[in-house]
Amino acid sequence: MINEKLEKAINEQINAEFYSEYFYLSMYAYFERINLQGFKNWMNVQLQEEHAHAMGLFNYLHERGGKVSLKQIEQPKTDWSSPKEVFEDVLKHEQLVTSKINALLDVAEEVNDRAAVSFLDWYLKEQVEEESNVGNVLKTLNLICDDKQCLFMIDKELATRTFNPPVIG
Ligand code: FEO
Repeated sequence: MINEKLEKAINEQINAEFYSEYFYLSMYAYFERINLQGFKNWMNVQLQEEHAHAMGLFNYLHERGGKVSLKQIEQPKTDWSSPKEVFEDVLKHEQLVTSKINALLDVAEEVNDRAAVSFLDWYLKEQVEEESNVGNVLKTLNLICDDKQCLFMIDKELATRTFNPPVIG
C-alpha cells in the first residue's frame, strides 16, 4: 500500500499533467486561429505527451494499490500576442513542472519509498529533455526570427515533429 502523503502528491501531479495537456491544447487552438500548422502540430505532439505523463502516474498509483482522485482542471490562458510569447510561456510552464516533480521526489524520499523514487526519476529526466527542446525553439525564435518568412521556415520544421508514445518508468 502506498503512503497517504505520497498518494496525495501523485494525485496533484496527475492534475498538473492533465492541466499541461489542457494548456497545450489551448495553444494548439491559438495556432489554428493564426494558421501556423507546424506550430499547431508541435502542440499536438506535446499535449499527447502530457496525456501520457498523466496516465503514467495514474496507472502507477493503481499498480501500487493507491486511489486515483481526479480534480478540477484550471482554465488555461487562451490568447497570446505572438508565437514567441507562446514559447516563453511553455518554457516557464515546463520549469514549473520540473519544480513540481522535484517536490514530488522529495515526498517519495521523505516517506522512504525507493520504488517510487526510481519510477519518478524518469519524469525528472523527461523534464530535462523537455526544457532543452523548448529552449531550442525559443532560441531560434529569439535570435533568428524577426520576419514572417523566418516564422514560416520554423513552422515547416515544427511540422515534422511526431508523437512516439513514451515508455515510462
Ligand atoms: Fe509532463 Fe511537460 O511535463
